[in-house]
Amino acid sequence: MTVYGVLGTGTVGRALAGALAANGGEVRMGTRDVAATRARTEPERPGLPSFAEWLASNDAVHLTTFADAIVGADVLVNATSGMTSLDILAAAGADALDGKILIDIANPLDFSTGELRLTVAIDDSLGETIQRAYPGLRVVKALNMVTAAVMVDPRSVAGGEHTAFIAGNDDEAKAVVGELLRSFGWRDIQDLGDITAARGMEAYLVLWLRGMQTLGTPMFNVKLVR
Ligand SMILES: NC(=O)c1ccc[n+]([C@@H]2O[C@H](COP(=O)([O-])OP(=O)(O)OC[C@H]3O[C@@H](n4cnc5c(N)ncnc54)[C@H](OP(=O)(O)O)[C@@H]3O)[C@@H](O)[C@H]2O)c1
Repeated sequence: MTVYGVLGTGTVGRALAGALAANGGEVRMGTRDVAATRARTEPERPGLPSFAEWLASNDAVHLTTFADAIVGADVLVNATSGMTSLDILAAAGADALDGKILIDIANPLDFSTGELRLTVAIDDSLGETIQRAYPGLRVVKALNMVTAAVMVDPRSVAGGEHTAFIAGNDDEAKAVVGELLRSFGWRDIQDLGDITAARGMEAYLVLWLRGMQTLGTPMFNVKLVR
């Protein structure tokens, strides 16, 4: 059985952990402080369960530290805030990452000035930064262009008639991620080539945010018309 290390306890970490566990995978979810995260009993957003409630209803998900989730996993999911992803991976060390697949969903977003800023962009990306830092890690950029609910349930938008983009240097890793995406219901998966394609996939967030603001919902995606 594949062991997944889902790094992140936010909306994305929960969506992926829930979907991977529902697929029959063993899921270890990483966080900074296990006790503090377990004690989150306040809903972060109205209408959403608190983390503690979510964890109680997903008993196949094992909450642990970031480092422990990395060490024990075959396939990793980077669902951490993009500004912290490198520090979190560094805590486990290069040896623990060597040879593993990392599905990199994170975006290098910085809202500290009140406006959206990408901390790395145009001629570089977070995906490439991670790949350069850990040459033995098989980074596949994927799912970062849609909201968490759509990642694991693409049929929730336009019956699933839209596109998932993936990018990475390792064809075998991309095949594994493609299979995983198909298991979530994705039918149109476009491989954009090596990890440098993450530049465009991450920069798209600038457009995505405007889309969300003007449409008034995050439940949308783009379709590649060939
Ligand atoms: N939300 C979406 O629908 C969506 C869609 C596409 C892509 N993304 C990307 O996916 C990633 C996850 O997004 P999200 O909305 O689920 O959650 P998020 O709030 O961006 O990140 C949550 C995770 O980041 C960790 N974290 C936050 N600040 C940290 C710090 N200072 N030091 C160490 N760790 C820190 C948290 O650790 P703890 O567990 O310890 O709190 C938590 O596990 C982001 O990069 C985001 O841009 C999100």
